[in-house]
Amino acid sequence: MTLETQSGLAALAQLVTSKGDSPGSLPPSLYVSPSFFELEKRRIFLQDWYCFGHATDFARPGDFLATELLGEPLLIWAGTQGQIRAFSNICRHRNTILAPAGRGKARLLTCPYHAWTYNSEGTLRGMPDKPEHLNTSTIRLKEFRVELWQGFVFVSLNDNVEPLAARLQGLDALIGNARMDQFSWGIRCVDSSRKANWKILIEGAMDSYHAPHVHKTAFTGLLPNLERPSRAANIAAGEDWFVSVSSRRRTPWPRFDNDPAGLRDEIRSNVYSIAILPSLILSLDCHNVFWWTTHPENPGHTRHAVGVAARTPERLNVFGQPEPVTPEWLQQWLAQRHMEDTGVQEAVQRGAASAFAVSGPLVEKLEGRLVEFHRWLHGRLAA
Ligand code: FES
Ligand SMILES: [Fe+2]
Repeated sequence: MTLETQSGLAALAQLVTSKGDSPGSLPPSLYVSPSFFELEKRRIFLQDWYCFGHATDFARPGDFLATELLGEPLLIWAGTQGQIRAFSNICRHRNTILAPAGRGKARLLTCPYHAWTYNSEGTLRGMPDKPEHLNTSTIRLKEFRVELWQGFVFVSLNDNVEPLAARLQGLDALIGNARMDQFSWGIRCVDSSRKANWKILIEGAMDSYHAPHVHKTAFTGLLPNLERPSRAANIAAGEDWFVSVSSRRRTPWPRFDNDPAGLRDEIRSNVYSIAILPSLILSLDCHNVFWWTTHPENPGHTRHAVGVAARTPERLNVFGQPEPVTPEWLQQWLAQRHMEDTGVQEAVQRGAASAFAVSGPLVEKLEGRLVEFHRWLHGRLAA
């Protein structure tokens, strides 16, 4: 461990154990230090499950997403029977990237270099000029583990990772009643890279302080209607997840014929903000869920996707507002919030690199959830 990493870790330990009047923000070096990022990579990113979006992104056989995690090319691909698999997106001949970055739909993918062709089970199905002696039946794309949780697609680069379902049982007990696994409609609105450390994105999603200031435009007309708790705090937490109630509907959703059986009153009323660390933030409002994913690329860049999934698009809603909204309106609204967050979060990253950057005091009433995130971070890195 480098000296820089050791002092970063010591500063983090001091922050989470200090008994001062007011908690502080993270030491600025933790957002910019390459060696601290290496530590996070070893102890978190290469160990954990990462969410890559919602199952509705992979609804049709052949739907795929070619992306990266920590510079590793990944291919997430729906098979002919609908099963979602994840592969290393490199050809088994001479390692060319197989599918171009982005989303697509294909039954077979052919390498652009010498035209080896693979099916959605990762099996080599053909190669030009095959030598007679070569046994191709064992040539397969490297496959990674995939788990679906409540309709969200998680992949891990760690073949020995603990099953995700077991880690999220406590969360299921709290919000499983909403049956997000039955949300069969969805859109992926944003896929981009932000010039900010991954922790700035997580903190942005757990911070209730900035919304009225940064999202003035996005929240125009909404803020007066929001029933927000006076104190932003997690109502429950597990090893890798946190839940808070971000707002409450004035009138709970009525009962609809196609509601899942036994939909509880608190699920009809509360808008839940859920963090599944280190990669997924959700905002769940009974019939729809907004999702944000974070995938670290390097200390100063984070890949980021935003989407929404719903039981039915007719009841799309923003933060417990009285009136449903259309998919087009919602898409624009999410894109606008995204741009606003990008501006301010990239500014935090630039400021954190300054020689005069500080660990400033947090407003615990509205930023208290960050403290729990910092404790989680320390727990994972100091292990
Ligand atoms: S590198 Fe893919 S076919 Fe040669
Ligand atoms: Fe925001």
